[in-house]
Amino acid sequence: MKVLITGGAGFIGSNFVRHLLNSKRDVNVINFDSLTYAGNPESLADIAENPRYQFIRGDVTDKQAVDAVFKNGLDALVNFAAETHVDRSIEDATPFLRTNILGTQCLLDAAKRFKLPKFVQISTDEVYGSAPAGVSFTEETVLDPRSPYAASKAAADHFVSAYANTYGVPAVVLRCTNNYGPYQFPEKLIPLMVANAREDNPLPIYGDGMQERDWLFVEDYCSAIALALYKAQPGTIYNVSAGAPQPNLKIVRTILKHLGKPESLMQYVKDRPGHDRRYALDSSKIQKELGWSPKVSFEEGIRRTVDWYQSNTAWLNHARSGEYRNYYDRHYVRRTETFSK
Ligand code: NAD
Ligand code: TYD
Repeated sequence: MKVLITGGAGFIGSNFVRHLLNSKRDVNVINFDSLTYAGNPESLADIAENPRYQFIRGDVTDKQAVDAVFKNGLDALVNFAAETHVDRSIEDATPFLRTNILGTQCLLDAAKRFKLPKFVQISTDEVYGSAPAGVSFTEETVLDPRSPYAASKAAADHFVSAYANTYGVPAVVLRCTNNYGPYQFPEKLIPLMVANAREDNPLPIYGDGMQERDWLFVEDYCSAIALALYKAQPGTIYNVSAGAPQPNLKIVRTILKHLGKPESLMQYVKDRPGHDRRYALDSSKIQKELGWSPKVSFEEGIRRTVDWYQSNTAWLNHARSGEYRNYYDRHYVRRTETFSK
């Protein structure tokens, strides 16, 4: 089986490439990634020489480059390639429309022309918008994206279903909650807090810190994606979640406890504009139909994650150099100024 993985140098993509190569002996993986600020070949250094792995630097909006990969024959595609950070989408939505919408459409077009047997679209819980207290959204919930990032992902989902309906592209859509684990870029909540706390720098809590996210350990998500790749029927949408939403403050306090750092490092800052209060998904459909279930408890997952960042400081320091410094300055050091423009 020859699988094209787009965005495989990012957080979930790199974990999935490793998961697939380690768990399936008959799989060849092509990782197609343009290496934006979030893409990092170091995240796959341990498998770079694997004879069943090939890396191609390319952009999912580049029709010629995409066609060149499809021409050699593919059995499936898993599309992780995306601009993924909500705060960056608030600053400038353009790259999100380009990669998340036009990029997905370019891949769908190739899938149509080359009659790809399976297209797995990696979507997000954010397409449903904010969930009221006590409610977990199902696959039937009407999409209500509320950030530019979420709107671009919802648009991509609509294109996937339009191509499935119009041209018969055999597509499966996965909508997952927030992931955490090794190799996550340190702009996201958990690695950002670990990185700052290690250096006794302030931990920026947006608003009151009581927003809830339904965290899933990345390894558990990888097993769900593999099941979808091998077993899901075309035309299916699956929600994936741990089913236990928790407030940001609790997450940050847990990180501080693991690192042995004081809660006085927490600093309340101006809230994210349009901040979704709560994400929560019902994942009973994938549990029932594909036999998936999460295996790693939050306590174990967060301990493994903090330990990983503690033992991989070279990776972390590299990710936090260069462009990250400008981003950090705009979003945190000059936060009030940036968000009052
Ligand atoms: P990430 O930001 O860590 O990585 C994205 C990868 O895509 C990078 O390697 C980047 O170089 C690549 N990329 C970006 N633009 C590209 C382009 N035009 N052409 C080719 N490659 C390009 O992202 P992630 O957190 O691993 O998320 C992966 C997918 O999962 C995304 O589609 C995201 O929307 C979805 N998702 C993520 C989460 C989460 O918690 N991280 C939750 C739900 C859904
Ligand atoms: P994030 O990791 O950006 O994921 P998303 O917004 O896609 O869910 O943020 C997770 C939560 O943490 C979200 O409610 C915003 C909050 N947050 C902070 O309070 N401070 C921060 O510095 C960051 C990055 C996020």
